[in-house]
Amino acid sequence: MGFLSTTCAALALVSSVLAVPPTPVAPRQANPFQTTVVTDFAEPWSLAFLPDNRILVTEKRGQLRLVDPATKAKGTVTGVPQVAYGGQGGFGDVAIHPRFSENNLVYISYAEPGTGGQSGAAVARARLVLNTSGGGALQNLEVIWRQNQKVGGNGHYGHRLLFERNAGAANSSILWISSGERQQMDPSQSMTSNLGKILRLNDDGTVPDGNPFATQGGVAAQVWALGIRNPLGIDFDEQGRLWEVEMGPQGGDEINLIEKGANYGWPTVSQGNHYDGRQIPNHNTRSEFVAPKASWTPVISPAGLVIYKGDLFKSWKGNAIIAGLGAQGLVRVEISGTTAREAQRIRIGKRTRCVRQDVDGALWVLEDGAGGRLLKLTPA
Ligand SMILES: *[C@@H]1O[C@H](CO)[C@@H](O)[C@H](O)[C@H]1NC(C)=O
Ligand SMILES: *[C@@H]1O[C@H](CO)[C@@H](O)[C@H](O)[C@H]1NC(C)=O
Repeated sequence: MGFLSTTCAALALVSSVLAVPPTPVAPRQANPFQTTVVTDFAEPWSLAFLPDNRILVTEKRGQLRLVDPATKAKGTVTGVPQVAYGGQGGFGDVAIHPRFSENNLVYISYAEPGTGGQSGAAVARARLVLNTSGGGALQNLEVIWRQNQKVGGNGHYGHRLLFERNAGAANSSILWISSGERQQMDPSQSMTSNLGKILRLNDDGTVPDGNPFATQGGVAAQVWALGIRNPLGIDFDEQGRLWEVEMGPQGGDEINLIEKGANYGWPTVSQGNHYDGRQIPNHNTRSEFVAPKASWTPVISPAGLVIYKGDLFKSWKGNAIIAGLGAQGLVRVEISGTTAREAQRIRIGKRTRCVRQDVDGALWVLEDGAGGRLLKLTPA
């Protein structure tokens, strides 16, 4: 069928080789790849490839940077709205529209400030206008989606973005949003809340045909799947199946196969328990909830996901590559049909926030936190 992620959609447009190869550094331990350090950022969160090989990188305080890996030049794109920075909150994801080369539309997610210290995830789109000195601006910014509850605290926004692209038919402009439950738990099971859900929207934020709860109206119409906690990675495999990774509580990080209308059970069931020691029944106690395809205790803290579709790391084709905070590197999960099984830990030595794949099959990784580096991984 040939579904490709946002990343790959962007990548399909990218082809040339870097003009000036950045400096390779010795890997921290024997790994089956070479690591190239491109540059570093202030608390980077996500990245998206542009058709001209440059890369947009979000920084959590609310900066959008544009980096040219060939020269390492780093510019700024102005026009990012004010973000609620703190804890897990701030500037989040960035994705380019499947027809970016025609419409220059960039999509961003962020923690939007409310009143009295409350906040909620929001998604906006804007036209990216670049100038000749390596910078630019977001213009005509329009918020197309919001979490319908703003709450206190600054955890569990989720807010990863993914465009669906069906290479076989007309280019799809379906936008997937992973919406975290803001540490409120119960909204994950409530159809009057769009927190703790996987959402499926049109590129203007309206509800497309075919959503499973459309007849309920309201925010329920946005919902594709529910019972989700803090989903920080979503991607399609080449068969068009949607995979998701989410942080569990104390234990119980998950990789899920997301199915239309399914309920993943949070906070009723989990392979983990509450931080205060209260037990949560395991998935096998409640068959009406869909269990994860694999789970982790101790946790890996999954913060990003790509289903590998390249040729550079041939034996990894179809595998889930998870960026782990606690794992301090990548976790490779073999997917066979609808089953998943951890196959390898790939140590980076730092908390890793985001992983993407370029059109040549190289993996790009963002380290978390102050001075987080952008790394390019290619086979040794
Ligand atoms: C390009 O854009 C950046 C960011 O908006 C700005 O700082 C810079 O001055 C611009 N350069 C030119 C030549 O307009
Ligand atoms: C899909 O988009 C790509 C890139 O914009 C374009 O080259 C291709 O022709 C489009 N395919 C269809 C079927 O519209």
